[in-house]
Amino acid sequence: MAKIALGVTSSVSIYKACEILRGFQKAGHEVQAVMTRNAARLVSPLLFSSLSGRKAIVDMFADDLPWSVAHVALAKEIGLLVVAPATANIIAKFARGIADDFLSTFYLAVEGPVLIAPAMNAAMFLHPKTQANVRELRSRGVEFVEPGRGYLACGDEGVGRLAEPGEIVARGLELLRRSESLRGRTVLVTAGPTREPLDPVRFLSNRSSGKMGYEMAREAIARGARVVLVTGPVAIFPPAKAEVVRVETAAEMEAAVLREFPQADFVVMAAAVADFRFAAPAGRKIKKPDLPDSLALVRTPDILKSLGGRKTTQYLVGFAAETENLRENALAKVKAKNLDFMVANDVAAEGVGFDSDDNQALLIDAAGAAAPTAKMSKRELSREIWDAIEKAHARRR
Ligand code: CTP
Repeated sequence: MAKIALGVTSSVSIYKACEILRGFQKAGHEVQAVMTRNAARLVSPLLFSSLSGRKAIVDMFADDLPWSVAHVALAKEIGLLVVAPATANIIAKFARGIADDFLSTFYLAVEGPVLIAPAMNAAMFLHPKTQANVRELRSRGVEFVEPGRGYLACGDEGVGRLAEPGEIVARGLELLRRSESLRGRTVLVTAGPTREPLDPVRFLSNRSSGKMGYEMAREAIARGARVVLVTGPVAIFPPAKAEVVRVETAAEMEAAVLREFPQADFVVMAAAVADFRFAAPAGRKIKKPDLPDSLALVRTPDILKSLGGRKTTQYLVGFAAETENLRENALAKVKAKNLDFMVANDVAAEGVGFDSDDNQALLIDAAGAAAPTAKMSKRELSREIWDAIEKAHARRR
């Protein structure tokens, strides 16, 4: 039984929030209502307190809250935050990170899934600022239940009606299920580039930022997995709950991966492993006059391929960076490396792939079925990829 926080803001559709609260209760969940001050002007918090059996929270500084730092304590207790109905104002505050009342402050402290059901006048919903705020939140992983079209409280017709309570509850329950879908599993993720030294100053590497791999790790954690993240040198922070193993070279990455492999249920090789290393790296900086005109390279081990040869129960996910014949080349790698799943990226496409915040991929399972995704943030894409991996994994068993 997860505890759900229901954020309620000041829309005429506020009465539907009671039904949403009831829906979550019927599914066996305890609900804590959190109202904005304006919502409390429309409907007495007493109504939500009575329905939920817990005092609805309105005031950040109320002295009768059962925790000393309530917004943080509650954020740790809940498995899901649903804001329904959500006004243009609360969506804008969430998007900007403004924390000037309990609900907006609480939102910043919530690390778990967040579902927002907007309700407002059509012009307000379609306003470029509101749309930009929705996009911003989506790209950070917040999910929305789209408002419907119809007769609005202001007398207008259009988009902006709060979605049906049943739909909001169903989506909320789906998010809760997803937050547990990898519970008990160990996921090994590799990310970032490797660096192959020539000497202590110079190295051979590539343009990988590590973002896609880090998002895959973050999403696996969000689904309840234990995550070991083997990472090459990158400029971004790892997810807080990942067990991080830092490596530099392909050889170091291979050693770390082989050490963790036996315990892993899923392996996600998102790292851009350098294909070559220098044949004779020097321990001291090579002075220019001593540098030869050409330098000998040798191949690095293909880590994924060797995992493909060793796997027992592990589910192996590879990534492919291609500039042409995406599907054929990616499928060939699935076969050659004995993979269960492949995320193929067209790195020649504009605004996606290496070092970009956005990505687009072709998701391919071991049977060769390929599904293209839309272009989206790497955070959103990591969710799509894990959904597809989990589906394909369930089919395999
Ligand atoms: N990979 C690996 N070890 C390497 C090279 C790649 O484990 N030495 C893994 C990557 O992490 C990725 C997958 O193999 O999951 C595909 O890598 P990619 O560089 O796209 O393909 P290659 O197999 O190197 O083939 P090519 O360079 O011909 O595209």
